Amino acid sequence: MWIILALCGGGLVVWDLTAFPDYIYENPSNLPFDHEKHGESLGLDCSKCHPGAESGIRAGMPSKMDCMDCHNLPLSDSPENEAFEKALSDAKEMPFTFTSLLPANVVFPHGLHVKSGVSCETCHGSAKEIDAGRRPKVRMQDCLACHQGKRGFPPASTDCARCHR
Ligand code: HEC
Ligand code: HEC
Ligand code: HEC
Ligand code: HEC
Ligand code: HEC
Repeated sequence: MWIILALCGGGLVVWDLTAFPDYIYENPSNLPFDHEKHGESLGLDCSKCHPGAESGIRAGMPSKMDCMDCHNLPLSDSPENEAFEKALSDAKEMPFTFTSLLPANVVFPHGLHVKSGVSCETCHGSAKEIDAGRRPKVRMQDCLACHQGKRGFPPASTDCARCHR
């Protein structure tokens, strides 16, 4: 959602209300995965596959075994399913890798944010948006906007040393 304000001086301010609308990292896995297909209908919790999301420094990625819990048995006879199960059995133990694009001196305690009541969707968007490749933006001003209380959450620290090592 975008808000465009015309200022008295004639300037324009475009303010994106979603917390992080841009890219931050890449995921070079060659196993297909679709969040929408594994949505609420299966009763799957996000933290089943992202074990640190609510408690860790990093959200984490699922292991091959997390997929095998359900994909041990063929779920359907479709050729698509057969090709996928072959790819899964050939895959290494941790098929999904994550590359952070945050500078090494920046601290982002992932789980603390979820514990403080910020929903996954606030920062990552819906399952559909995640599948479409939407990525949270991690420019300092995006972090600060929320910490200053401008995103409707309780204000958090704006002290340099809290976010920088
Ligand atoms: C069945 C396991 C599973 C569940 C449940 C799951 N994910 Fe994922 N998630 C994955 C896999 C596999 C990847 C890596 C593949 C990819 O790039 O999409 C991933 C990647 C992600 C990524 C980073 C990569 C990207 O594409 O943006 C985010 C963010 C994410 N998941 C959020 C969520 C949220 C929020 C939920 C709950 C609504 C959730 N996930 C539930 C398996 C899962
Ligand atoms: C305050 C914003 C925010 C919230 C809330 C949030 N995330 Fe994230 N998430 C991020 C940022 C920023 C990154 C990138 C961190 C990095 O680059 O080191 C990230 C990274 C991820 C990743 C990539 C893998 C990894 O190990 O970090 C996954 C998966 C993920 N988040 C899932 C979730 C899930 C599931 C939830 C809800 C339980 C959630 N996120 C809530 C901002 C958030
Ligand atoms: C809780 C059970 C469960 C888990 C865990 C699970 N899946 Fe699935 N998956 C399903 C079901 C059920 C379907 C069929 C959904 C549909 O077609 O609507 C499916 C469908 C798929 C499909 C589409 C092709 C097909 O077989 O129909 C892919 C690809 C897939 N899953 C990948 C994964 C990966 C990768 C993981 C691990 C990160 C994973 N799944 C974890 C239950 C699961
Ligand atoms: C809420 C967290 C947060 C706070 C507070 C914060 N920063 Fe940052 N800062 C970041 C993030 C995230 C980045 C990396 C993304 C970017 O460059 O915008 C960053 C990047 C920077 C960079 C660029 C670093 C580089 O390697 O290019 C400088 C310089 C910087 N911050 C200085 C400061 C100073 C000085 C303060 C205190 C006045 C401060 N920051 C407070 C989160 C924060
Ligand atoms: C949508 C809101 C939101 C966004 C966006 C956000 N934060 Fe936060 N952050 C919070 C909240 C809420 C807290 C917890 C405040 C508390 O409970 O003291 C927090 C706490 C923190 C803390 C712990 C502060 C302390 O006092 O020790 C750090 C570090 C932090 N965030 C870094 C970041 C960085 C880096 C980013 C950007 C990549 C970011 N945050 C983006 C809401 C946000």
